[in-house]
Amino acid sequence: MGFQLHFSKSCPKDESELNDQLFNETFNALKSTCESQEHGFFRLSENDQFIKRSTEIYNKHKNIKTFIHIGIGGSALGPKMLLDALQKNKRQFIFMDNIDSDTHWASLEGVNPADTLIYIVSKSGGTAETLANMALILHWLEKHGINKEEYKNHFIFATDPVKSELLDYAKETGIECLEVPSNVGGRYCVLSPVGILPALFADINVNELLKGAELVKKFILNSDKETNNFLRLALSIFEHYKKGYSQTVFMPYSSKLKSLSSWFIQLWAESLGKKENLNGKIKHVGLTPVAAVGATDQHSSLQLFQDGPKDKFLIMMEVENFEHDYSLENNLSIPTLKKLSPFTLNQLMKAEFMGTLKAFEDENIPFVHFALQNIDETTMGALILYLESLTVAVAHLLEINPFNQPGVEAAKRHAQEWMSAHCEN
Ligand code: PA5
Repeated sequence: MGFQLHFSKSCPKDESELNDQLFNETFNALKSTCESQEHGFFRLSENDQFIKRSTEIYNKHKNIKTFIHIGIGGSALGPKMLLDALQKNKRQFIFMDNIDSDTHWASLEGVNPADTLIYIVSKSGGTAETLANMALILHWLEKHGINKEEYKNHFIFATDPVKSELLDYAKETGIECLEVPSNVGGRYCVLSPVGILPALFADINVNELLKGAELVKKFILNSDKETNNFLRLALSIFEHYKKGYSQTVFMPYSSKLKSLSSWFIQLWAESLGKKENLNGKIKHVGLTPVAAVGATDQHSSLQLFQDGPKDKFLIMMEVENFEHDYSLENNLSIPTLKKLSPFTLNQLMKAEFMGTLKAFEDENIPFVHFALQNIDETTMGALILYLESLTVAVAHLLEINPFNQPGVEAAKRHAQEWMSAHCEN
């Protein structure tokens, strides 16, 4: 499946240590969620139409130089993560996932709208930040002499295929619209056209990406308790949570996987941070995700992970094979440099990673070690579905709904109210 898991000593080990009843209940609940029509995230990779429709659009626009991606939360983090990990070409991508005028100003400078495709992604079709960014892009196009009649040559939308203001506008104007399936929430939609279209423009092999997701399914829905590392991980995180380990550190040892951390933070935080449980009881549960990147953050947050409160479970991610490497061989008389001389940069990365795990073991800090063979499409596809399913499995254990975000909705509503109260017209 492109990666292997190794557990720290404090995680439940085998059949004898895993609670039978909890294993079976979680397995059955997860299986029924994955198979239900209500939730489509587990089956996105089975839908050929997503690649087909996205490829048609790609073929029409493949000569563009710049791809502007407008969306926020689940409508942006997944595609950005794919590109940062896998982009193969030099095409310019601009992600407008915040409403920061100064950043937009700098990003749009020198961009020629004639060579640009603008992808507006909003499942609901009504997110204020996304539509505000669309509004400023409309002014930018107008400034460059591109008017309404030409919008269909510059815009592609991705939105809910049943109910969305963007969908209505697309129908009116002939702008092409890709689907964010109604039964897949924003943070679970990267393997839909939301991620597939930008991936095509980045020369990412989307067939391999979805193949990776398909291949990992048998490891997730594996009913054999002895070999099911997936549920062993979910149960380890849950058992530690009950003992006060309420934070989950996500630490890949790769700069290319930094955005995977940002994507995971949203998935974990928005899915697991809930006020009510499934029976409507006020519980205030959640695991707080913390992003870090190795080896850089060994000189930053690692001190806290190592010696601070015993409340963290760490997901440590190693890349076994980088694409490139550098020799550290040298003949300078600087003692530390001399010691490095027999090694390569990748070997030093390995030493830093293994050294950190050893230090965690010595302090009995719980962790799981993901050993990724390399960073490629199949591994990324597998990892995405694995982490999404892990989130859902942990939600089952916590007895909460991982697919809603009532807190976010409340903030959106209050922002709208604020605007109505401050509207001068
Ligand atoms: O995961 C989610 O559902 C959210 O983070 C959404 O992706 C985010 O709020 C943006 O919503 P929309 O895609 O409807 O614009």
